[in-house]
Amino acid sequence: MLTRVSHIGILVRSLEEALKFYRDVLGLPVARVEEVKSEGVRVAILPLGGTRIEILEPLDEKSPLHQILEKRGEGMHHLAFEAEDLPRLLSDLQSHAVRILGDPRPGAGGERITFVHPKSASGVLVELCEEGV
Ligand code: CO
Repeated sequence: MLTRVSHIGILVRSLEEALKFYRDVLGLPVARVEEVKSEGVRVAILPLGGTRIEILEPLDEKSPLHQILEKRGEGMHHLAFEAEDLPRLLSDLQSHAVRILGDPRPGAGGERITFVHPKSASGVLVELCEEGV
């Protein structure tokens, strides 16, 4: 039911600072920067080999990501998998008592997204997303 690694999310204090490494030193192109209001975040999208790096900067202090930055600092935030049929996948996961964090909602690039709690995924915050729905 999963088709690929959609992206890897990296949480940072400053997008501009982070791009000095990921764009300017590593040479990854920035396809675009967009705001995802539902998650309280500004995202730079850097495609690479059929997947992409997403660099996440909290929009303001009310963003849930701001609290995480305060607590844990910068670093890898989530691993996102592309799903073919997100509603079916979610009902399957729920039947296995996997903890899902909220109903599917709009993410970057018009995807539908939701998350699996790290307690259900060996300590990794897993995002599940479906494109073009
Ligand atoms: Co994501």
